[in-house]
Amino acid sequence: MHETVAPASGVNGLARLPGDKSISHRYALLAAIAEGESLIRNYSTGADCRSTLGCLGALGVPVAVEGCEVRIAGRGLEGLREPAGELDAGNSGSTIRMLAGILAGQKFRSRITGDESLSRRPMDRIMLPLRQMGAEVEGRDGRFPPLAIRGGALHAIDYALPVASAQVKTCVLLAGLYADAATTVREPVPTRDHTELALREFGARVEKKGPAITVQPRPALRGRQLRVPSDLSSAAFFLAAALVTPDSSLLVEGVGLNPTRSHLLDFLISMGGKIEIRNLAATGGELAGDLLARSSRLRGGVIEGAATAALIDEIPVLAVLGAASEEGLAVRDARELRLKETDRIATVADNLGRMGAAVEVWEDGFTVPGGQKLRAARLDSFGDHRIAMACAVAALIADGESRIDGAGAAAVSFPEFFETLRRLAR
Ligand code: S3P
Repeated sequence: MHETVAPASGVNGLARLPGDKSISHRYALLAAIAEGESLIRNYSTGADCRSTLGCLGALGVPVAVEGCEVRIAGRGLEGLREPAGELDAGNSGSTIRMLAGILAGQKFRSRITGDESLSRRPMDRIMLPLRQMGAEVEGRDGRFPPLAIRGGALHAIDYALPVASAQVKTCVLLAGLYADAATTVREPVPTRDHTELALREFGARVEKKGPAITVQPRPALRGRQLRVPSDLSSAAFFLAAALVTPDSSLLVEGVGLNPTRSHLLDFLISMGGKIEIRNLAATGGELAGDLLARSSRLRGGVIEGAATAALIDEIPVLAVLGAASEEGLAVRDARELRLKETDRIATVADNLGRMGAAVEVWEDGFTVPGGQKLRAARLDSFGDHRIAMACAVAALIADGESRIDGAGAAAVSFPEFFETLRRLAR
């Protein structure tokens, strides 16, 4: 499926965006192993979060979806059922990596698979700690999906993450719920802490001391009523579109502003972006607020070190802003980008190249010089949701109508993306 996107002079009005993908996965997983019913409001409409619900259903967890509300009848820590067939994580790295932590604690065998893109993504990063805890985990060619997991009694570990990854951290902490003592994960740089916050909401004991996060085993998890804030990583495309087009004033409501995610706002503001935060409030341990973004003169910037981990999902759209900015954008320490739904260093450079923009590619990042005019072009998502949406933002500032092949990939996190863009961009 393709979409065409015409240049726009502005993005205006009010945007209400789907629930945060990261938080939706975590609430659903914890609701499934809690006692009693949970009601999750504003659950992500993205296909990835449906994959998590599908897997939970196959594990015998009653799940009822009505619009954006999801009711989950928790089965307790030990109540999951051996699945009849393979669990399907679809395109979702979060589903396979985080659910594997729970499966490692179950007394049955399970197999979890995914689509072509997911089948190329490395799983050794979770296999290693889960094996150290005592689970049997096999992967295709030793490290790729499908994964075959034989769980059981787990030993607590103290695990230093070799790469900054919230998915791996979550996997180990969830397995730690089934361990024989307290499990600790140490992070090289801070990553999103939704799991820590959600575990506390559901009743687990989690402590953070510097880079170490410790979870106590066998908690009494209780079903909860929670509302998922809107997804800042989805909002990023609209914020970027508003900043970079000349006649914009856009209000995005109820967006998640967890400090481990909101570095995006600091970075956009440091580039010269006019963004205001309004109505900041706490919900279920998470912060949320409204964001007002207006047309801005963007300077440029450098993303490296801890900032790279904090901005990892937003880098494709920030690259577009870099091309349009005065001084450009340099991204470093971003090898992880090559292991996402696509190799995002390659797919960003490919698409900007099609628009006539210069991009210098490095092993661990890229540099996009500023002051570049983008030409209308035939672009390609390569099946990656964030690349589809970043291409759409680039198309808004091109010199004519662009075509985006594989635009349907946006549905992985944001099925309403193109419809919302058509409503707001003029
Ligand atoms: C996520 C963590 C990040 C991010 C992904 C969602 C999460 O992945 O890219 O979109 O919800 O924990 P890594 O843990 O692989 O960095």
